[in-house]
Amino acid sequence: MSRKAGKLVVGNWKLHGSLAGNEALLGDLLASPVLSAPGVTAAVCVPFPYLAQCQARLSGQVLGFGAQDVSAHVNGAFTGEVAAQMIAEFGAKFVIVGHSERRAYHGETDASVAAKTLRVLDAGMTPIVCIGETLAEREAGETTAVVTRQLETVLAALTLEQAAKIVVAYEPVWAIGTGKTATSAQAQEVHAHLRSLLRAKGEAVVDVAVLYGGSVKPDNAAELFSMADVDGGLIGGAALKAADFLAICEAGLSR
Ligand code: PGA
Repeated sequence: MSRKAGKLVVGNWKLHGSLAGNEALLGDLLASPVLSAPGVTAAVCVPFPYLAQCQARLSGQVLGFGAQDVSAHVNGAFTGEVAAQMIAEFGAKFVIVGHSERRAYHGETDASVAAKTLRVLDAGMTPIVCIGETLAEREAGETTAVVTRQLETVLAALTLEQAAKIVVAYEPVWAIGTGKTATSAQAQEVHAHLRSLLRAKGEAVVDVAVLYGGSVKPDNAAELFSMADVDGGLIGGAALKAADFLAICEAGLSR
């Protein structure tokens, strides 16, 4: 997805929500004029059972929605898995793939993340491909090597046309849910490198949106979004409070 459309702000609800709580949160988000402003696109990625609620509540609205994971398989004997085509049937536009929590707790590898990315594209949705280094990797000076390996494995599996349709999210693992955000300079440095990898894949891919994620809050969003290669944010904790999520979206306007 191209960065030319403006900033993209995506909420990652993780394992949170209830029918009643979601109804209130979505209602508060839709009531705000911020989401209709040109220059920012917003979406929420919700647990699978709430896709139907999002379809009912958000169809035709300015707030997009999606899922947080997908099966690497199309169908078959894979108990508990959810296929991309099933998610797409609910009108979802986005699927997060390769989140660090899935890599850490569910054994996802660069190869499985690449397969999931393909499934999402085949189903006509936008994969939000998450990459990022751990604290140990950063301290060992391996940040560039790690994010290069993670992104290149995915890009290698895609045609130019497919690659132009993805979104990348750089989420340093040490910044997720810790309140410790990367400085805007640290984020920009990695984002600029990711942009060079996208350019190396082909000119058609250079404008793929690269989001920053990891403790993005209302008070640091504007600074992060002002960086040349930061095209928006993937928001965890702050996406659960309408006022915070809206303030982050507002920070994306005119940046
Ligand atoms: P956080 O999560 O904003 O709570 O740090 C971000 C993410 O994991 O996508």
